[in-house]
Amino acid sequence: MAILINDDKKLFTLQTRNSTYQMKVGEFGYLYHLYYGKRIDHQDLSYLLYDGPSHFTPYPYESKNRVGSLTLMPQEFPTVGTGDLGSVALDVENADGTRIIDLKYKGYEVLAGKYSLTELPSFYSHNNDAQTLKITLVDVISDIEVELYYGVFEDKDVITRAVVISNLSENAIQLKKTQSLSLDLISGQYDLIHFHGRWADERNFERVSLTHNVTTFGSDYGISSAKENPGFILLNKDTTEETGDCYGFNLVYSGNFQATAELGTLEQSRVTLGLGDNEFSWQLDPGAMFEVPEAVMSFSSTGLTQLSHNFHDAIRENLCRSKYINGPRPVLINNWEATYFDFTGKKLLEIATAAKDIGADLFVMDDGWFGKRSDDNSSLGDWFVNEQKLGCSLNELVTKINALGMEFGIWFEPEMVNEDSELYNAHPDWVLNFPHRRPLLSRGQMVLDMSKEAVQNYLFDRISDVLDSANVSYIKWDMNRPITEWYSKDLTDSRQGELQHRYVLGLYKLLGRLTRRYPDVLFEGCSSGGARFDLGMLAYEPQIWTSDNTDAINRLKIQYGTSFFYPISTMGSHVSASPNHQNGRVTPFETRANVAMAGTFGYELDVTKMSDADKKQAKAYTDFYKRVQEMTFEGDYYHLVSPFDRDNDAVAWQIVAKDQSKSLVTIVATDVVGNPPFVYIKLRGLKSNAKYKIKDNIYSGDALMNAGLKLMQPKGNYLQNKFILKKLPILNELEVRFCRPPQQENLAETHGSTWS
Ligand code: DGJ
Repeated sequence: MAILINDDKKLFTLQTRNSTYQMKVGEFGYLYHLYYGKRIDHQDLSYLLYDGPSHFTPYPYESKNRVGSLTLMPQEFPTVGTGDLGSVALDVENADGTRIIDLKYKGYEVLAGKYSLTELPSFYSHNNDAQTLKITLVDVISDIEVELYYGVFEDKDVITRAVVISNLSENAIQLKKTQSLSLDLISGQYDLIHFHGRWADERNFERVSLTHNVTTFGSDYGISSAKENPGFILLNKDTTEETGDCYGFNLVYSGNFQATAELGTLEQSRVTLGLGDNEFSWQLDPGAMFEVPEAVMSFSSTGLTQLSHNFHDAIRENLCRSKYINGPRPVLINNWEATYFDFTGKKLLEIATAAKDIGADLFVMDDGWFGKRSDDNSSLGDWFVNEQKLGCSLNELVTKINALGMEFGIWFEPEMVNEDSELYNAHPDWVLNFPHRRPLLSRGQMVLDMSKEAVQNYLFDRISDVLDSANVSYIKWDMNRPITEWYSKDLTDSRQGELQHRYVLGLYKLLGRLTRRYPDVLFEGCSSGGARFDLGMLAYEPQIWTSDNTDAINRLKIQYGTSFFYPISTMGSHVSASPNHQNGRVTPFETRANVAMAGTFGYELDVTKMSDADKKQAKAYTDFYKRVQEMTFEGDYYHLVSPFDRDNDAVAWQIVAKDQSKSLVTIVATDVVGNPPFVYIKLRGLKSNAKYKIKDNIYSGDALMNAGLKLMQPKGNYLQNKFILKKLPILNELEVRFCRPPQQENLAETHGSTWS
């Protein structure tokens, strides 16, 4: 049983395979959080609670002996005005201007299966693998009810949380801050890992100590952003990949978010995660309810790798909905870095024809096929095929590409509009902009008001028309600027604070309609690369372009950071040209190919310019990828050597089939030295008593994991080595690839992407 309840004690325990989460209704009716950590048999842990006096902290009026200050008590859902002086999860302004919501326990319900939300994406139960606990809290003075939902995925060690706020009173209230989760940990000393970045350098790993100052991070970009990712980790000081306690938190949301982490007065730790509250407010009318986006958390007592695996499995099996999630994905060839805007239908067909020779299954026509777009100054919004540029109709082009035995995909940037477009001329009022002001531009474009139904309908119709006009099996859904003008002409002045969330709801509504109407179309998310890499988008689009930076060496960090929460099957990853277009670095083909294999593999270069020998090599890599891609999509991913560790001259990772019969190890040398020592790498995730074959050598799993592999530093540039392990006698396969480093001295001139 995943949910255990002791009615007399009002004690709620959520049990997963390896973790326990416990709450209890305490004195004065407050819901205390008692424990989240390694699994403990069902026992009341309330003896852990602080029961000393409240020194310089406010305590409830009813408290006879001055105990029970909410600044000191670990709470499940801390709120404004109740004497909790830490970061709260809910802040409201009542009709009379007061800032208080005093939530007391009202009741609970256990529901079969996993709850879902009406307007927001959420994890779902698969083969009855989840149960729901709903706890209702109420402020009896203001008549506001708050339902806390817990979705317990017992076997996956994952718990989801959502909050629904209902106004049962006769007065409207303003929600000022709504967090999806708050977690108080009574004891322990923790570090925080968060993933920060910028365009072309997303999800850098940063580990810092929790301090008494509140560490706040999040996004005000209108999207989850490259600046910070909503996924973060709290871990013991000595936790490593393989040992120690750690907690992971993430949000199923694609807009502004906020996370906090802090040490409290009694050295307790608190984290919160939810909607960004900068400029946010929401008028909750009498009788109305508000859903706070879902948060997801997991605990591992055996280090970061297990924590990642918990998230990877749950995301693949309980969040992504596409039919592609379990099967092989097409190897795609995208024309962006091959042509940018400068293409014709003939050129695209040439690329597709050449790409067929290297094993590509899907040709993707990127930006520039619509309106009169020949650079990034015009036509966003005019989703009409530019037949003059293509030299034919879309259907004719797609038919020719299909005749090659390839599928066809197409790029859209639905949320955007250029001033120079028919759409803007017809509907200038559809754009987010402050009255009497000029809008800020970014890449020369403005943002459509996605909260408007007319905008959603227009985009649904335009995209459907394109999809219905030809055999399109893939969409790349791009979004290339931050949102800054939070003003909608449809909302009254007092409701403008709702727009950032209404935008995301409108986006999800459109994505929901399209993905339901075109269940066989593969959607890939993108936002100037990986600026909207989050669980909200993954609920609709099972893969996301990880970064506009296609340099294999920069990608080592980007893909490593991304992989803590997100399965590599969700990470778009392509082989591009060398010298690389973003940083001019020269890398061998093998390095680029092997790095791209740690994701949904594809190509992003002009295949017509490749020599026959290079094409032959590329074909061999594509074939190899197809052979191992099942491991990529279903297997377990291990970090072996981190790219963020400056002492290492190599980066390494490993993918292992779920049945441990096969494994792929990839090592990329990031520097080479003269007279190098051997490189020893300990593998992970193998069966210790099984035999694995690497080329002609046979090793025991035990030896490979404890003594390690002995490798010679490859000579040359950006060495990569890739080993496939085969298990014996049931032939376990292990392939190891060691890749060459780049030729730094050969830095070529950066092409400079035309997108930014
Ligand atoms: C940004 C994306 O990340 C690129 O891959 C490409 O699609 C451009 N936009 C097109 O404008």
